[in-house]
Formats: sequence, structure tokens, C-alpha cells
Amino acid sequence: MISIGIDICNVKRFDRLKENRAFLKRVFAESELEICLKRKRISECLAVRFAAKEAFVKAIGTGIRDGIKLREIVIRKNEIEFFKKSIKIGAVFALLSSILVAGVGDFHAKEVSHTQPTKLAAMESLWETKKDAPMYLLLIPDPANERNSVEALGIPSMLSILAGQKEIKGLKEFPPTERPPVTPTFLSFRLMVGLGFVFILLSLWVLVKFKTLENRRILLRLLLWSIPLPYIAAQLGWIVAEVGRQPWIVYGLLKTADAVSKAVEPSQVLSSLIVFTLFYGALGIIDIYLLAKYARKGPEPKEV
Ligand code: HEM
Repeated sequence: MISIGIDICNVKRFDRLKENRAFLKRVFAESELEICLKRKRISECLAVRFAAKEAFVKAIGTGIRDGIKLREIVIRKNEIEFFKKSIKIGAVFALLSSILVAGVGDFHAKEVSHTQPTKLAAMESLWETKKDAPMYLLLIPDPANERNSVEALGIPSMLSILAGQKEIKGLKEFPPTERPPVTPTFLSFRLMVGLGFVFILLSLWVLVKFKTLENRRILLRLLLWSIPLPYIAAQLGWIVAEVGRQPWIVYGLLKTADAVSKAVEPSQVLSSLIVFTLFYGALGIIDIYLLAKYARKGPEPKEV
């Protein structure tokens, strides 16, 4: 908005107008009347709001005749204090829990390297057995040719350090029928870990720039758009765990194909999957609706 509006009004007029219910209902929203009529100095409270509404109408240059009703303009305090208090709690919690998740994830990776070596090799798309295995930041798997088409930006020995083993077995160490699908396991793992670091960086960014947060549009927008990311990261983790352990249901002992129940029909599996998907899908939609509704509503209006 480029223009500004200004209005001055006589408080004394409101000593009389505050008794006029029809006027009050026409000019003020329920929430405003609730605040002002409880006050000791009712006339001041009403007058200041009336002036602010008139000033707003002048600023946008329309006038009440063009469809805006004064009672539809609600004068509220800016909620920056409330917003900053809640975002600080969120950012501290996000930072601590993201660091914790990365720590637990690292512990998991070490465990996986001992108990499910094919999963670890697929997570890192490692084809050849290597001592002091490096970790490549840029890597494109080529499972058809049992190699990687791109391996760049390697960090020496990093994979061995993270896995807690000097020698890491490559996929070629195992028969092709005992290897998991490499591309989905690798991509899901990379994205999950990448998102884990994004959460740490975003929450750090919020805390470092906390003082001027309300003016940082890009950061605020990023935060809004990052709401679904933890849910996506959790799904990716699940893909790593479940796709990565194929073809085994019990590693080295029982294959998934041999564990299929003969008592349960495929149609039963499909129908329960559909019911669960619909049920949790509906819960998800209600959750998003409620989050959006209460975020838009904001806190209870403060007294002005
Ligand atoms: C930041 C670094 C992270 C590392 C190093 C990491 C590491 C791992 C590893 C190694 C696994 C496989 C465990 C297994 O197959 O037994 C795993 C699974 C999983 N991860 Fe992550 N992860 C990280 C971040 C995240 C984040 C940010 C989330 C979600 C917000 C997440 C959610 C999951 C889930 C839900 C599983 C599946 C667990 C299961 O079903 O057993 N991870 N992660």
C-alpha cells in the first residue's frame, strides 16, 4: 500500500454513541465490542478504533460506499511478540531434535553396516569392497552396469568412519539375487539425510537472525514451505529401511518371497491397504485444515 490515512475523532461523541446498540453493531466487530465494553474508559476505546477504521478506509482510497463495512475492519495489535515467542520455542525444539535424529541415524548406520551389509552398500551405491572407503557427495548410480556413472567430491575415508568399519563390503561381493534395488535405496537415503541437515540449518538460521526475523521474507517463506518436509523425510527413512532390506525379510535367513502368508488373500491385503490409506488420508486432510484454520485465525485479539 502506498498511501496513508489519518483520522481524528471526538471522544466525547462516543459518550452518547456507546449507548446506541444499532450504531455499535454497524461499526464494530463482535470481538472489538467484547474488548471495549468491558473497559473502564469505553468511549476512548471505541473512539480510537473508529478513527483507525476511518484512517484505513481513507488509505485504501475506497470509502465505505464501495462495499467495505466498518465492522468488517477489525483493529488488532500486531502479533509480532506472540509470533516470535512461539517461533523461538519451535526453532529451539527443531534444532535439538534434528541433531538428535542425526545422532540416532548415525548409530543406525553403524548397526546396519554390521547386520545388513547389502543395505549399507545400496545406501551408498558402493559396488567394490573398499578399505578406508570415501564418501562421494556427488554420485549417480548405474545399477545396470554395476557401477556409478558419476563419482565426484569424495571425502576420504568418510564412509568407513561413519559406518564404524575399516573395510566396507561392496555390492559385487553378493550375488545379484541377494542385492536390494540400489537406486531407490540410495536416493531415499541421500534425501533423508539431506533433509536432516536442512532442518538443522533452517532452525539455526532462525535463531541467528531472530532479532530481525519479522523482516526476513525469504526465510519466513522457506519456513512455511518446509512444513511437509519432516513427513517426507520420515517416509524416505521408511523406504530406506524396507526397500534396503530386500530380498530378505529376516536377513540371510528368510526371503520376503518365502514369507508370503498362504492364509491371507492378496485381495484382503489390498482392501486393508485401501481402508488404511483412506482413513489416514482423511486424518491428514483434517490435520492440514485445522493447522491452516488456527494459523490464519491467530491468537485471541489483544486489547488496543
Ligand atoms: C540427519 C541424518 C540422518 C541419518 C544419518 C539417518 C540415518 C538413517 C538410517 C541409517 C536408517 C536405516 C535404519 C535401518 O534400516 O535399520 C534410517 C531410517 C529412518 N530414518 Fe533416518 N537418518 C537421518 C535423518 C532422518 C530424518 C530427518 C528423519 C525424519 C524426520 C528420519 C526418519 C527415519 C525413519 C522413519 C527411518 C525408518 C526407521 C525404521 O523403519 O526402522 N531420518 N535413517
